[in-house]
Amino acid sequence: MTDNSVPTGIEGLDSVLGGGFPRNSLIIVAGNPGTGKTIFSAQFIYRGATEYGENGVYVSFAESRESFINNMKQFGFDFEKLESEGKFRYLDFLTVREAAISAILDIILKEIKRLKAKRLVIDSFSAMSQAFKREFDARIFIHTVLSRIMRQVGCTTILIDEIPYETEHIGSGMEEFVADGIILLRAIEQDERLFRDLLIKKMRGKEITEDRLAFTLKGGFRVFPPFKSRTPTETRRFKPIEDGPDKFSTGSADLDGLLDGGYPKGSTVLLEIGRDISNMQYHLILAPTAWNFLAKNRGVIILPSSGISYDIVRAGLRWLIFPRM
Ligand SMILES: Nc1ncnc2c1ncn2[C@@H]1O[C@H](COP(=O)(O)OP(=O)(O)OP(=O)(O)O)[C@@H](O)[C@H]1O
Ligand SMILES: [Mg+2]
Repeated sequence: MTDNSVPTGIEGLDSVLGGGFPRNSLIIVAGNPGTGKTIFSAQFIYRGATEYGENGVYVSFAESRESFINNMKQFGFDFEKLESEGKFRYLDFLTVREAAISAILDIILKEIKRLKAKRLVIDSFSAMSQAFKREFDARIFIHTVLSRIMRQVGCTTILIDEIPYETEHIGSGMEEFVADGIILLRAIEQDERLFRDLLIKKMRGKEITEDRLAFTLKGGFRVFPPFKSRTPTETRRFKPIEDGPDKFSTGSADLDGLLDGGYPKGSTVLLEIGRDISNMQYHLILAPTAWNFLAKNRGVIILPSSGISYDIVRAGLRWLIFPRM
């Protein structure tokens, strides 16, 4: 953690962000319904108060305090306790749709000052815009309040943007330019499985080398750090895995688990390799199968692609076994 970074409290994300969000920045968290925007933002506030000594205010235009507090309990976030300790405040503006924008701003600012809050969430900009439509242009809100005043009070702010299904762009298109950072949450359905991923579309002053990260909401918002192969500190002999009655083990217990025991005996398996998968990465799947055969004194036939010689194949298999050679 550096002075200029605010830890997000999201497991796995801070290392990618070089410590966290830029201090006093305005971050947009955008996504389709149900993609985890509220959980992300609630965790940012909760961990801020419990682990980083930064009090927080959560402003909602869509969800009541009771519903929020109850929903968040399942992730182990006890917001009631934080409230009683004066570290947290939930402001809901569900029933004050007619209130003037200036009155709402006054309430938010007063709470921030009273709590000496360092973190603020607005859930959501989309819902707020609707509440203000009749009397004020909500876009002025971001310009006057979020981008200017919040910086003065010293609050790192998350502005949630709801992206309706079938819509490509984020919000009104304006807040994107004002924001210091944009995080897009997605849920992609593929082969009847749900994949969640997080895209860092913009982060002022940060060099982001990994901008697309998988995440889960189970047990809280957790980002999976990008795959990095490690050189083991000590090497040991490969231990073969027994084959099932009708399956050949892949040589990897984890992969066997996913494949219900391994590759069906006598089958042909096509391994499709994405463009962003390195040689090293897919050989980590191929090599153990070969080792598992070799270790049991069975033969393996490898037909190398053009330009790959016997020596390269042998060195490749050995290199994976003895990474330092
Ligand atoms: N206990 C849980 N464990 C794992 N996932 C959960 C749990 N409870 C809810 N979810 C998932 O969390 C998602 C909702 O998260 P969240 O409320 O943060 O989304 P959101 O983006 O704020 O949605 P909305 O746009 O409707 O406000 C749902 O897709 C649901 O499947
Ligand atoms: Mg929500």
